Amino acid sequence: MAGAWPVAELSAALAPLLPGLRIEIAAEIDSTNTELMRRARAGDTAPVLLVAERQTAGRGRLGRPWESARDAEPGAQAASLTFSLGLPFAPRDWSGLSLAVGASVADGLDPDGAAGVRLKWPNDLWMADDRKLAGILIETASPVAGAVVAGPALAPRYLVVGIGINIGPRDAQGLRAPPAWVREWRPAATAADVLRDIAPPLVRDVLAFGLRGLAPFAVRFDARDALRGREVELSDGTTGCCEGIGWGGELRVRTAAGLQSITSSDLSVRPRRAGD
Ligand code: BTN
Repeated sequence: MAGAWPVAELSAALAPLLPGLRIEIAAEIDSTNTELMRRARAGDTAPVLLVAERQTAGRGRLGRPWESARDAEPGAQAASLTFSLGLPFAPRDWSGLSLAVGASVADGLDPDGAAGVRLKWPNDLWMADDRKLAGILIETASPVAGAVVAGPALAPRYLVVGIGINIGPRDAQGLRAPPAWVREWRPAATAADVLRDIAPPLVRDVLAFGLRGLAPFAVRFDARDALRGREVELSDGTTGCCEGIGWGGELRVRTAAGLQSITSSDLSVRPRRAGD
């Protein structure tokens, strides 16, 4: 049980932005992303904000599982916020959408930057000490015939933006990156509070991306870029110094062979640590 979800308040805030948006709270589901992709493939392409109090098969990037933080006890406040936003979407250019989403969520969680929430290309939220606070999984389903579209381009797709945020403490065991959580700097925060804070700006920012692309978000990303100026290693073994992101959201890495632009969503990148 995650406490009272602010469904009426969110509906009032989001309806003017995305007419027809449904807000659904699932007590248990395999994965909010999987569910919205399943619905889209079955022809249900209405805008939805789907929140799961528990996911049994949460998914991360690169086919990895996403494990929610374990709730302290039945009935306690949920230790994770897991939700997906789905909508028909047709931006002029899709490049950098995950960066814009990351900037939106980071600014919603840490508006003045005091908590030190950073963005780790392409779609993780980290704290200053490289612990992972949240992850983003963006997926799309094939063109939707006859849909009302947020954005000016031609063929809409159904966009699913999935977000998982650690709200309460969690064990590092089994995680690739040590975890961070929101209650480190907001001790009383609930998953419902965090959803109330981040969902309206997220919808606004996704719609703004549809119209204007990554450019308005680049400064926001730069201000929180966790990799810029650091030595990094890519999963293909390339190493170099990160020079931030380019106009299309690509990661720029100065390697021995020159400046490389990393766009592949198949690659992962991590900062090099002493001894690497
Ligand atoms: C990552 O860190 O690789 C991305 C994690 C994304 C997790 C969220 S939780 C809500 C939504 N449903 C999923 O199955 N995944 C995303």
